[in-house]
Amino acid sequence: MADKDGIKDAKEFGIGIPQVTEGFHVKGCNHYGWGMKSRLSKIFNPKSGKSLMLAFDHGYFLGPTSGLERLDLKIPSLVDYIDCFMGTRGGMTTCIDPAITANKAIALRVSSGSSILDDDLSNEIVSVDIAEAIRMNADLMATQVYIGAPYQTKSIDNLSKVICAGNTYGIPTMGVVAVGKEMERNAKYFRLATRIIAEVGAQVVKSYYCDDFDSVAASCPVPIVIAGGKKIPEKDALEMCYNAILMGAAGVDMGRNIFQSEDPLAMVQAVRAIVHDGIDSKEAFDMFNELKTK
Ligand code: 5RP
Repeated sequence: MADKDGIKDAKEFGIGIPQVTEGFHVKGCNHYGWGMKSRLSKIFNPKSGKSLMLAFDHGYFLGPTSGLERLDLKIPSLVDYIDCFMGTRGGMTTCIDPAITANKAIALRVSSGSSILDDDLSNEIVSVDIAEAIRMNADLMATQVYIGAPYQTKSIDNLSKVICAGNTYGIPTMGVVAVGKEMERNAKYFRLATRIIAEVGAQVVKSYYCDDFDSVAASCPVPIVIAGGKKIPEKDALEMCYNAILMGAAGVDMGRNIFQSEDPLAMVQAVRAIVHDGIDSKEAFDMFNELKTK
């Protein structure tokens, strides 16, 4: 109903309700610009604050790894249940129809330079520049960071260069914790690695689940998404996913435990239900078993 100033019901204008400018739903990113926040909102669902990224960038150093022999056949079938594609420039441009990326975020792998033929994987370069990331409509750039490895400093320099370029254009960066062969995957190491990546200025960190993961998530001032790591039984992978979310992960950037699953379509839906609907791992495993029979 119009009042004396002709303004309709105050409710419709939110008059008296403070505009939300504080407490952006992505941890530690409240002070970034509009564009950065818009891209982060495509990745992290504003309702759940979480993200399900499907990682299929493995070929950049592993080649046609099991389950990814044909990206064009495997990845599109999962699109309805993911929030974000995480792939390489070549993998996406050759195998992913840009039309299916509508309403999905794009996380672009921008580092490379190592292969499984190397003893040490840490000697990487930034192989995709900011101009290409903009051309690819990237919402996030991902680069590997090797804390404690021979080329640690070079990988941190790569990270910093990607962050600087990304900040210039409002594209967030994800630092990917790469666990060197000698590194022990424990909370102490992950607290160190994730915090270094965040302090260099990454807006997102990808790491791994571990015992005491809550201490890792709590001491990292930006969101952590967890990689799934090597394929494990679906029940265990769903339990890991649930525990990680329970202990503060902002989602997953999972690859092998989805695309190497006996039923990737059932698995991605079960993972999604944990990440966004908050079901527990038992419910998720029941869901997986029910879906795979269909
Ligand atoms: C490869 C990566 C992958 O993106 C990351 O490990 C996630 O994939 P997965 O769940 O299969 O571990 O960084 O280097």
